[in-house]
Amino acid sequence: MSTETATFADVPQLYKRHVFACFTQRPSGHPRGSCGAQGAQPLWDRLGRQIEAGGLADVGFTPSGCLGFCRAGPLMVVYPEGVWYAPKTPEDVDEIVETHLKGGQLVERLVVVLQR
Ligand code: FES
Repeated sequence: MSTETATFADVPQLYKRHVFACFTQRPSGHPRGSCGAQGAQPLWDRLGRQIEAGGLADVGFTPSGCLGFCRAGPLMVVYPEGVWYAPKTPEDVDEIVETHLKGGQLVERLVVVLQR
């Protein structure tokens, strides 16, 4: 691939979608809070299991550190759409898997719009 004429669309993609989920756990009472303190771990465990059980080989799932918006958590972001979600229940996770990761549609009720 020539770097002079290549565009982003020319770069081979490993995944159709890639999920990053914040696994940061700060101690109880920490002033920044954390996704872990808001119940992230069991939700992300379920997310990983659902991706695997669904045979979604074209979906990457990567545990991440703090994504920078700790009070809004538990936070996950799906690329290439760049959609941030804050699921609170196992059912929320299931809906994101079925609707967005499998179906390619937005789960509007779980979207978090963040501002810097
Ligand atoms: S701890 Fe998850 S966004 Fe900061």
